[in-house]
Amino acid sequence: MNHFTYKDGRLHAEGVPLAEIAARVGTPFYCYSTATLVRHYGVFADALRAAGLDATICFALKANSNVAVVRTLARLGAGADVVSEGEMRLALAAGVPAGRIVFSGVGKTRRELEFAVAQGIMQINVESEPELLALSEIAARRGVRMPIALRVNPDVDAGTHAKITTGRKENKFGIEWTRAHEVFRLARALPGIEVMAVACHIGSQLTEVAPFRAAFHRIRDLVAILRADGFDIRRLDLGGGLGVPYEDDEAPPSPAEYADAIATTLGDLGCRIVLEPGRLLVGNAGILVSQVIYVKEGATRTFVVVDAAMNDLMRPALYEAHHDIQPVTEPPAEAPVAPVDVVGPVCETGDTFARQRPLPPLAAGDLVVFRTAGAYGASMASTYNSRPLVPEVLVDGGRFAVVRARPTYEDMLALENLPDWLS
Ligand code: LLP
Repeated sequence: MNHFTYKDGRLHAEGVPLAEIAARVGTPFYCYSTATLVRHYGVFADALRAAGLDATICFALKANSNVAVVRTLARLGAGADVVSEGEMRLALAAGVPAGRIVFSGVGKTRRELEFAVAQGIMQINVESEPELLALSEIAARRGVRMPIALRVNPDVDAGTHAKITTGRKENKFGIEWTRAHEVFRLARALPGIEVMAVACHIGSQLTEVAPFRAAFHRIRDLVAILRADGFDIRRLDLGGGLGVPYEDDEAPPSPAEYADAIATTLGDLGCRIVLEPGRLLVGNAGILVSQVIYVKEGATRTFVVVDAAMNDLMRPALYEAHHDIQPVTEPPAEAPVAPVDVVGPVCETGDTFARQRPLPPLAAGDLVVFRTAGAYGASMASTYNSRPLVPEVLVDGGRFAVVRARPTYEDMLALENLPDWLS
């Protein structure tokens, strides 16, 4: 469910025609819908509540680190899952209280750990023994015991794209399942550490509930072992990963099914549940709007060349990901469709959004949108080919605002520096 629909033949974001935003902002741009964010958060929170779970929803900022988007979610009660000092600062700037921030990641630097301890965030999810030792030293020096979870790697196959699966033993993430107890014991002996939670995250864009269940069963077994050894495990951080439909025929598990999997495997342990959803909250709440520059007839196919490129939305180039493409002007019901390749201007063949995609006729100047681009779209964008970072727009009912401006070429050049021997 989202709020990007045709009204009077024109695609709108809630009450605003996208063509109107394009005329003001220029293309390409990302556009987010407040009503969709609110709805997604509400459906997820309600499902957890209905399953009887005492849960804290920490939005994974890596999916979308726009401050206005994060603030919209924070106002609904969301905390934040962050993986860098930058994301931590962003979450704080967006109004997320430090007491609702979880810090994850396999390579936190000492500087980042210092910052997290100084801010007094809710929890650090530690992923290795060296990280544990570094954190203990930093916290002890400040005279505090930092609340931590140990992220364990449950060695389950999430059945998702190889580049975004994280819960297998050959992945770099977490502490190997079979060594978890030993590392918990080490943590208990350290002066700057308060061990209170177990964390796991097995992958992203999961389309089945079974791998979650398998991982949660393993967590349950581990909690029993730890409690028998005197550990006071009060929280379980189950990560993110619930998938969203990118195509009409996809039906990932519903929030209710996911909540049921948690409740039936872990619900009786008396633990506060922490979740780190990213894509689920923002994926369908965002689109990328672009303009057709040329329609080019190639030797064997037609290329629709648009002004967005792989640097603006990397997912197709990186994961062969599918994003639905729609014209902003609604095609007539009887419009013919023909297969075309939709490509960007960047100088490599990887800069292809869709191959042989059946689309209605498009012409230079037409606006098109890439759907389900609210997660891992803008947050993964780069300036490859010296293209300015794509701006972001937030719509709320009948109003909209540019919530991240397109940098000017002067802004971009200002960061460059010629050494004196070249000037
Ligand atoms: N927690 C941790 C520790 C994570 O590593 C991730 C995602 C999440 C939560 C949020 O997962 P989500 O609910 O969004 O699935 N760039 C890729 C996705 C990378 C996911 C990385 N970790 C893509 O565009 O599909």
